[in-house]
Amino acid sequence: MDYDRERRMAEARAKVALADSDWKMVAYHLFNAARMTSRMAHQAEGRTRDSLVRLAQAYEQRGDRALAKVGKGGAKDEGRAKVSQNGRQDTDVAQQDWVVSTRPDIRLDDVAGMGEMKDIIQSHIVLPMKHADVYAQYGIQPGSGVLMYGPPGTGKTFVASAIAGEVDAAFIPVEMKKVLSKWFGETEQLLGDLFEAAKSHPRSVVFFDEAEALFPKRGGSNSSVMARVVPQLLQLINGLDPNQNCIILLGATNRPWLMDEAATRPGRFGRLVFVGPPDPEARAYMIERAMRDTPVADLDYQALAERTQGYSGADLAGDRDSLCVEAKMAALKRTVDAVERAGEGDVEPEPVTMDDFEHALERIRPSIKAEDLQKFEQFREQHDKA
Ligand SMILES: Nc1ncnc2c1ncn2[C@@H]1O[C@H](COP(=O)(O)OP(=O)(O)OP(=O)(O)O)[C@@H](O)[C@H]1O
Ligand SMILES: [Mg+2]
Repeated sequence: MDYDRERRMAEARAKVALADSDWKMVAYHLFNAARMTSRMAHQAEGRTRDSLVRLAQAYEQRGDRALAKVGKGGAKDEGRAKVSQNGRQDTDVAQQDWVVSTRPDIRLDDVAGMGEMKDIIQSHIVLPMKHADVYAQYGIQPGSGVLMYGPPGTGKTFVASAIAGEVDAAFIPVEMKKVLSKWFGETEQLLGDLFEAAKSHPRSVVFFDEAEALFPKRGGSNSSVMARVVPQLLQLINGLDPNQNCIILLGATNRPWLMDEAATRPGRFGRLVFVGPPDPEARAYMIERAMRDTPVADLDYQALAERTQGYSGADLAGDRDSLCVEAKMAALKRTVDAVERAGEGDVEPEPVTMDDFEHALERIRPSIKAEDLQKFEQFREQHDKA
């Protein structure tokens, strides 16, 4: 993805919304611009990185200011209020609008590494689901949600959807910033929609991405509203008959230090799990899996794993701009050339070679920086002490 282009487009859209005094949309686009800028910052170094971080913060502050204006007049808000009076219908529109559920076809086996996370999933999610009756007999409530934190691209979203795939559940991802800007002041409806959508499946995984926005540290105007979402949702979930519905709550953040400690108090996210960069074994596994349906020649996965320290899962095996995609592209180009030369008739696809990976290694650089990891380590130490 071209983050800078996305950033500029988001900024332009924010301006259009601003001309309309549509504060929710202004905030929404500004938060998007902030997100794109943070991603750029993650790929940059030194001064460029610092200024990108500042730019992202500036976007967020402007987004916060726009949010504060929601509900204080403005043409669009009046329109919104009128629609809301239609009650049920509005809910339907809203549901289509933002509660999207999918049925992921990936399994935990597709996730490389993450030993700790997988253990917790097994004991907190898979077993309680399989043996709901036994748990109920002992009066034990199923787990109260797992919050993952770690650098971008380490597979947090991926593992969340793999869990849904593993237990044959619907996957309902929620982007907090989106919801916040859209639903400011309408928490009840937000909760209701989410719960109804989750309950309409026998099993579902509700996944809060950018979970730091749920429990922001500074007690800003929106924090009290958002901080209610998770406890209320958990209350609703715990009131369900486990034989009829099972809802798993997951969250992820790559900026846990922005979060209030309250996030992991009892009745909220019960477990906090660090999802770090893949170790060499996980890297080899990921590369090998990414290449499994592709013709290859003499690839040394172990050697590639050794050379990809600091690469995130997304850097290695993501759908775009990843090492494996880049290596495949090199072989693909050779094949296309061969097809063009041959004119007609079948041409065997060129296998991906170590040379193709050499080329890819030059182009795709690791996105996880040592100083980022240090920040996570610090947070981890502090949290474990507390
Ligand atoms: N541990 C992993 N095992 C297998 N694939 C992975 C893993 N980590 C990342 N990937 C690949 O990288 C892609 C991007 O990872 P994902 O979006 O899940 O990262 P993330 O931790 O959610 O990042 P962010 O913090 O930016 O949201 C995945 O779709 C998957 O293809
Ligand atoms: Mg993610």
